[in-house]
Amino acid sequence: MKTIIKNIKEIIGVSLNEKNELKKGKKLNETSIIQNGWITIEDGLIVDFGTMHDWPGLDNWNTTTIIDADNGYVLPSWCDSHTHLVFSGSRENEFVDRINGLSYEEIAHNGGGILNSAQLLSQTSEDDLYNQSKVRVEEVIRMGTGALEIKSGYGLNINDEIKMLHVIQKIKNNYPIEIKSTFLGAHAVPKQISKSKYISIIINEMIPEIAKQKIADYIDVFCDTGFFTPKETEKILEAGLKYNLKPKIHANELDFSGGIEVGVKMNAVSVDHLECTSEKQIDLLKNSNTIPTLLPGTAFFLGLEYPPAKKMIQSNLPIALASDYNPGSCPSGNMAFMISLACIKMKMNPIEAINAATINGAHAMELENQLGSIKRGKKANLIITKNIPSINFIPYCIGRNIVNKVIINGKVYYDSETNY
Ligand code: NIG
Ligand code: FE
Repeated sequence: MKTIIKNIKEIIGVSLNEKNELKKGKKLNETSIIQNGWITIEDGLIVDFGTMHDWPGLDNWNTTTIIDADNGYVLPSWCDSHTHLVFSGSRENEFVDRINGLSYEEIAHNGGGILNSAQLLSQTSEDDLYNQSKVRVEEVIRMGTGALEIKSGYGLNINDEIKMLHVIQKIKNNYPIEIKSTFLGAHAVPKQISKSKYISIIINEMIPEIAKQKIADYIDVFCDTGFFTPKETEKILEAGLKYNLKPKIHANELDFSGGIEVGVKMNAVSVDHLECTSEKQIDLLKNSNTIPTLLPGTAFFLGLEYPPAKKMIQSNLPIALASDYNPGSCPSGNMAFMISLACIKMKMNPIEAINAATINGAHAMELENQLGSIKRGKKANLIITKNIPSINFIPYCIGRNIVNKVIINGKVYYDSETNY
């Protein structure tokens, strides 16, 4: 079955024959655009595109589905490479505690934070956890996300970590977007157990079982003050690597934690957060394949300093942007809002932010050959915008919904006119 999207004002994020390169430095602000365009799709893949001016027409109108973009823009769907979207309940009481003066670390220290979510999750059945999480998955797809990484890390014991990873697998089986799964057992130390004992459980029990069940693609550690040290992080990541779980790290969110250094040393796919990053760490990242992934929603929600995105770009680094969707530090998976924050708070240009949230996000999930740009042979996971005046309008119109239709594998998944 063939599908054609016609009457596209501009196709953004086109790649022609070039490799699916990670966009770095000045190139982060470059994108290929086709004006007044069309795209044809077959079996869920992009097969061709061009301008309406030289549109070859249709051989058979009866076997072709026509999607009218109504003069909207078409972009590759968002590739959100860092979320904790499988969780139970919510933590708005801590949000109020922070308004009244407590810090994120103080709340965590008093047994709130991640431990609070872990307790709730332990009392939640796998079915209930799935039902709560699927609402969030559908919500983010409707906002334009077409590829998603989801972490465990609210289990903190083998049964509950595996429960979370099973829920992620179920999401993967039941939804048409791409899902990557990350084991984050080292998210916090559970109550009533020493840190060294918990690390040995992670290494000797959790990792081998998770690898046996093949329910994770990556391994992550929260390397920060009050959580796991660089040494502990290295030990855990090494154990994961033995089972082919590639590292990703929560690094330098609360302090200069040494997380970037371990990430580079271990050749991590990405180091994420980086609110506390100096020239020294930027230099280290320059000589690595590790992708700095920025999560401006967290800095916004917790009132932290933002990562030095501009400096990173001037130093010819790539940047990926992700949401960090989680109940404690960013209860939103709205990638268009993350793009707004990147522009407003980190002074990224709209095209830089869009590239960071699409092709570079795809790289941070090793999906760059399938997603992240509009290219022949790639999956047709696309956003069709409303009739907006320019592409800069996307970050400009903070908090408003610019999505008209979401196309996943070439099919309309969401249409704002019929089901919003
Ligand atoms: O990425 N930093 C660690 N983990 C999450 C927050 C988890 C939570 O507070 O529930 C994050 O910010
Ligand atoms: Fe996170």
